[in-house]
Amino acid sequence: MKHLFVNPSRKISKIDKNIYGHFSEHLGRGIYGGIFVGEDSGIPNVRGIRTDVVQALRHIRVPVIRWPGGCFADYYNWRDGIGPRSERRRIVNTSWGGSVEDNSFGTHEFLDLCEQLGCSPYIAGNVGSGTVRELSEWIEYMNSDGESPMADLRRKNGREEPWGVTYIGIGNESWGCGGHMSAEYYAGLYKQYATYARPYGGTQLYKAACGPDGADYAWTDTVMRLAGNFMDALSLHYYTMPGYYSTDPYKWEKKSSATDFDEANYYRTLVRALYMDELITGHKFVMDQHDPEKRVALCVDEWGAWHAAEPGTPPSFLYQQNTMRDAIVAAVSLNIFNKHSDRVRMANLAQMINVIQSVILTEGDKIVLTPTYHVFDLYKAHQDAELLESYVQQDFIGTEEAQVPAIHASASEGADGKVRITLANLSANESQSVCCTLSGGNFSSAAVRCLSGRMNDYNSFEDPYKVQIQTMPAIPVEGNRFQLEAPACSVFEITLS
Ligand code: AHR
Repeated sequence: MKHLFVNPSRKISKIDKNIYGHFSEHLGRGIYGGIFVGEDSGIPNVRGIRTDVVQALRHIRVPVIRWPGGCFADYYNWRDGIGPRSERRRIVNTSWGGSVEDNSFGTHEFLDLCEQLGCSPYIAGNVGSGTVRELSEWIEYMNSDGESPMADLRRKNGREEPWGVTYIGIGNESWGCGGHMSAEYYAGLYKQYATYARPYGGTQLYKAACGPDGADYAWTDTVMRLAGNFMDALSLHYYTMPGYYSTDPYKWEKKSSATDFDEANYYRTLVRALYMDELITGHKFVMDQHDPEKRVALCVDEWGAWHAAEPGTPPSFLYQQNTMRDAIVAAVSLNIFNKHSDRVRMANLAQMINVIQSVILTEGDKIVLTPTYHVFDLYKAHQDAELLESYVQQDFIGTEEAQVPAIHASASEGADGKVRITLANLSANESQSVCCTLSGGNFSSAAVRCLSGRMNDYNSFEDPYKVQIQTMPAIPVEGNRFQLEAPACSVFEITLS
């Protein structure tokens, strides 16, 4: 028996809804085919944006989307993507496979998508190959309301009202594909870009600096020390890559099949996903030295399980299937973000559609909701809720090489006053009995929704409903205690009343 304790009277921090955010880049079929099909397409759309995709994303209440990259952001010139589509510059996407980018999805189209979804846009500005003026004018174009050259240009292109975009990222992976910069050099550049990112139209910007690659604590320390006062957030990128690591560099294989894997690989994946907890703890510690009030947020604006591309698809398109293993990665990661919500105030799954760990896959007019999508559905009530103190008393499972906790959970109280627990059973093949004790409140019933399957089960275009959320019979709560049987490889939402 595993024991979970939740204290409904001990509220720790607000779980910012943006922790449930997404990332979408001009990469493979992430934008074209996945979101944008054009107005003349036979696929139902509103101004070129797929209706089925908008409906599905609205259901999981997507709060924020980061765009246009990624590595592509540091190559992107926003002026290529405005004005009549027939006149837009066709460029080569040198970041991702050299495909032709016709720029038919640009600023207006992205902000239209956000308006259709009712979510916030998060613009990733170009520091790697752009200029300070370019980014400043992009913000002016989106936000200026009076008479100004960029507001006039926007109006000429058909949009009268400014969009009032708040979230601006300044550079992407500036230590890598965004320019291979040192932390000192980047911190100086950051301040220069941030200075000219003005509050056009009275919109106060939320400026995010490029943060570390995984465990590069020195980067965090330097950028916080030199530029911390000029930023609202620092990003963190970390991908779960469950392939085989060897000390022999010729045998390094970071990525392995998304669907065909064994238990050793499954548990290794989970160990690497759980490492997110250690990373956030480490970066929080460094940030605390410079910003003990926690004014600057940590924004995990790229995370996800990155496997090998589906056989038969271009490797540079990063198109991969998504199994129950990925669902457990998502469940564990979102619990970790919830638990660090005192500092983590945004996270963006990479990537929303058809790229890496997606919530939706498309093929022509067909659409599949992945197991990861269903986890976002099970967890959506945590958005803007208050994190509650919780603790799991348990043992560890897995292989000799990869030990993981059997149960992983977090809990919150929503604005509706309801206490909710999200919980995952990480075991690939054993169900777990979980006894949950609430140390306060007065509860009589637990409503339960559950996602479960074998570790490599997935939804395909041939079998789109193999993995689905099941609503279970309510469980009676007696003396503020209830017991739950969690099948192997499962994720739960439990709502108490
Ligand atoms: O998400 C794919 C790529 O991963 C992004 O473009 C880049 O920022 C990261 O390295």
